Amino acid sequence: MCIQGRSTYESIISMTGKPLQNRRNIILTRDQNFKPDYSSFVYHSIEEVLKLIQGQVNTEEEVMVIGGSMIYKAFLPYADKVYLTIVDSVSKEADSYFPMLDDHWKVANQQHNEADEKNKYNYSFLTFENKCRQK
Ligand SMILES: NC(=O)c1ccc[n+]([C@@H]2O[C@H](COP(=O)([O-])OP(=O)(O)OC[C@H]3O[C@@H](n4cnc5c(N)ncnc54)[C@H](OP(=O)(O)O)[C@@H]3O)[C@@H](O)[C@H]2O)c1
Repeated sequence: MCIQGRSTYESIISMTGKPLQNRRNIILTRDQNFKPDYSSFVYHSIEEVLKLIQGQVNTEEEVMVIGGSMIYKAFLPYADKVYLTIVDSVSKEADSYFPMLDDHWKVANQQHNEADEKNKYNYSFLTFENKCRQK
């Protein structure tokens, strides 16, 4: 299951022509008339989506929150892990940001990758774990 704000959903559609495949796409919007073009599911509040997630606890389906900014911020306290990719580059056009992770989060894994013929910039994959939610 993939949870996303309406703008992130629309940016994926504009880039690829379709929503992310082979998963349930959950779109958050306050617009009661919003009709996604494809078979995605629309919700109108964080609370509604949290209820949906609570119903998933004992299933195999992993719940992924894929942005944007406010959506990351709202779900961060409920997340067990953050998968973060850091690209060694600066965009002057950026207008949406991932929230700062405070000391409730610890790095559990990191992998650095050098630029190559496929990747213009050095980049790193980091996995953070939420210390407050560890069993
Ligand atoms: N690089 C990455 O990993 C990454 C990841 C995600 C997104 N992005 C980029 O970030 C941009 C979009 O991010 P964004 O932060 O501007 O927008 P966003 O979070 O994707 O969408 C914002 C919209 O979500 C809805 N929303 C937000 N909070 C809500 C709430 N509490 N209840 C109901 N609906 C709510 C509202 O939709 P309505 O206005 O319809 O009410 C709001 O305008 C895109 O360009 C996308 O490509 C990049």
